[in-house]
Amino acid sequence: MKFEYVLTSSLLNRAPIGAKTSDFENFIINLFEGSHTYEMLKNEDIIILNVCNPLIIAESVINDFGNYEKLEYCGKTYYYVKEAEKIVIIKVKNRKVINFKNEYGNSNIMNLECEKITEKIIKSNNKEYLPFNRADGLLVEIAVLYSRIKLVSKDEKVDMIDKIKEYGDIIKKVGSKEHILILNKFKELIDF
Ligand SMILES: Cc1cc2nc3c(=O)[nH]c(=O)nc-3n(C[C@H](O)[C@H](O)[C@H](O)COP(=O)(O)O)c2cc1C
Repeated sequence: MKFEYVLTSSLLNRAPIGAKTSDFENFIINLFEGSHTYEMLKNEDIIILNVCNPLIIAESVINDFGNYEKLEYCGKTYYYVKEAEKIVIIKVKNRKVINFKNEYGNSNIMNLECEKITEKIIKSNNKEYLPFNRADGLLVEIAVLYSRIKLVSKDEKVDMIDKIKEYGDIIKKVGSKEHILILNKFKELIDF
């Protein structure tokens, strides 16, 4: 599954980033060339994954003027997001750059294989500190669209089915088996 974190490191920089994991011990991160985060992680092996609420995740893409806290690791200062519920410190085990072509020309993706070093609860409120997964919201959006589909005109129905298909494609990429099971139930009912 893929989870959305806010990534921080040794610079005052924050970025929402998706990390794939099946065990919360090993993580795969793919970075698109062109961001400060990409440049920073060319040479930096320690990454902090901040488990944040969706508001902080969304705000973090707008700018880097967040609230940061410091921590020391192996004699170096790293930053994390003050509002994070939990932080996971991970280390890059393997780094490779993959070149790909799209309609705008050539570009690079940096693929990082990482492993967990440690984690720390920042806000202790006795709950499970699960990172955000986009499939949750999208599945509920599909459910809302489904509940309205019989109430709208033919044209609106076509638009709704397009949206459901779009959300379904994302769920297939980022969701769990359970998400896809429910998605398939909608598929049987709506035929998208
Ligand atoms: C929810 C979300 C997930 C994202 N996931 C990724 C990702 O996995 N890889 C990536 O390169 N960019 C991803 N981005 C875009 C980066 O967050 C964006 O390039 C970065 O914030 C730019 O800021 P920077 O130049 O300070 O690094 C994502 C954005 C959002 C909103």
